[in-house]
Amino acid sequence: MPLIFPSIFGADFSRLADECADVIALGADGLHVDIMDGHFVPNLSMGPKVLEDLRRKFPQVYMDVHLMVTDPQDYVEPFAKAGANNISFHIEATAGRATHNELDLIEQIHGAGCQAGIVINPRTTAESIGHVLGKVDMVLVMSVQPGFSGQSFKREVLPKVRWLRDHSPQATRIEMDGGVSDKTAGQCREAGCDAIVAASALFNAKDRAAVMRGLRGA
Ligand code: DX5
Ligand code: ZN
Repeated sequence: MPLIFPSIFGADFSRLADECADVIALGADGLHVDIMDGHFVPNLSMGPKVLEDLRRKFPQVYMDVHLMVTDPQDYVEPFAKAGANNISFHIEATAGRATHNELDLIEQIHGAGCQAGIVINPRTTAESIGHVLGKVDMVLVMSVQPGFSGQSFKREVLPKVRWLRDHSPQATRIEMDGGVSDKTAGQCREAGCDAIVAASALFNAKDRAAVMRGLRGA
């Protein structure tokens, strides 16, 4: 059964702690924290202070940080200090750099005491991260263009999950993010995802417990 990481970007921010407590009580395996810089993606979300406060409130919860930022190297330490367990960054931000490239970032994240994840956008090939498989703890496959919750799932990314599963060590987590609901989660699980992110499908649901069961396939 896959791990379920609700994306708090879909929560009602005026009641953020209660929203988190609710999905944790429903069995969430951690919280997915979307960091947007208004540059790498055309939206802004939150900074390390939000994570720091949530970490204090939920000391045991796995915090899965997804950096959608142009300069991920500047945010590894702040988010590690704030309580991240995993920090994922986009290959689109680092590819081709002489320094602060994906290999440097993975080392930096591990050095900060966190697990490291690499993210690919819908139009980025799985092969483009072939050189880091075995070095990362997680691969995050985006099934929407990053920046906004509530978009529709792009099923054309599913073959990438199969390729990544075949080319990654067994222990590497493969996570799907974007438009995942109880309707689309089954395809993700079948393709080989063992972690699922959901924002709108879960937080906007009338019956969150039912959606949680549907996401997990149990
Ligand atoms: C999108 C974010 C997602 C987003 C998911 O840029 O990375 O984590 O919050 O939202 P839904 O599940 O509504 O597509
Ligand atoms: Zn995300």
